[in-house]
Amino acid sequence: MLVTQYFAKDLFKGKTVFVTGGGSGINLGVAKNFAALGANVAICGRTQEKLDAAAAELRVFGTKICAVSADVRDSAALEAAFEKSRAELGAMDVLVCGAAGNFLARAEKLSANGFKAVVDIDLIGSFNATRGAFEQLKETRGTILYVSAGMAYMPHAFQVHVGAAKAGIDMMMKNIALEWGQYGIRANSIVPGPIEGTEGMKRLPKQDEFVKAIPLQRMGSVDDIGQVAAFLASPLAAYISGCVVVCDGGQNLLGSALFNMGAEQMLRGQEG
Ligand code: HXC
Repeated sequence: MLVTQYFAKDLFKGKTVFVTGGGSGINLGVAKNFAALGANVAICGRTQEKLDAAAAELRVFGTKICAVSADVRDSAALEAAFEKSRAELGAMDVLVCGAAGNFLARAEKLSANGFKAVVDIDLIGSFNATRGAFEQLKETRGTILYVSAGMAYMPHAFQVHVGAAKAGIDMMMKNIALEWGQYGIRANSIVPGPIEGTEGMKRLPKQDEFVKAIPLQRMGSVDDIGQVAAFLASPLAAYISGCVVVCDGGQNLLGSALFNMGAEQMLRGQEG
């Protein structure tokens, strides 16, 4: 259910939100919730057709939308995307660093390049976005939201690359909150739990027992994350900075054992 059920519909009217990786999944869900609350939204990703389809979904809310292709690993392309967004929508008020990559891999079989690919997209990509958005965010006294993962603080099997990247993101978030607070810039991370229908869930194990074991006994929805994002970026959270906000139905309380067993099965299936 979109956040308009709970928040004032003009909460982000006249504000600009930029979402990296906004063409699909959780990030598109976050983008939709901001657009539903009146924000002008820019999204970037690697594939223009995917972005165009996402932009069509976002335009339903009647605000200005900018869809521009840029790989977060390419800081020059990202900076050009930020300039285009600024020219079309005005200076950025909210940056959502959502672009990520993931796959299951045994640490002993993961190549250095495979590890690097995920660190480059998730961690370096989030830094590139953060660094590139600084002047705009300084101007608006804006907010940064990082999309992290439970792998950042709890080891999950076959996720050595993701754990390293996401832990790096959360520490970067805290450094940014510390250094840029003087400019009125807030930074926080959101840790989504298992979210239904996303690319991440296709790449990771999901079993019925896993869902039943979640304290709230259901998968999350992209709107569950969208409403946390809206709250954290809004004046309701004006004094919240440097925090990791976990939105997972209590799933982290279980540890990662069920995930690890499901991942073992899934990998065995892939290995044949
Ligand atoms: C082992 C793999 C692999 C796999 C790729 N590699 N897939 N190794 N198992 N399944 C290795 C390759 O062999 C190569 O190393 C290196 O990674 C780079 O691969 P490329 O395909 O050239 O990289 P690239 O095209 O940049 O693709 C990046 C990617 C890809 C991460 C590998 O999967 C991708 O683009 N994903 C984006 C979409 C995505 O993952 N969405 C899910 C996000 S969910 P060598 O040594 O052979 O050169 C998410 C949530 C995390 O992140 C937390 C969940 C709770």
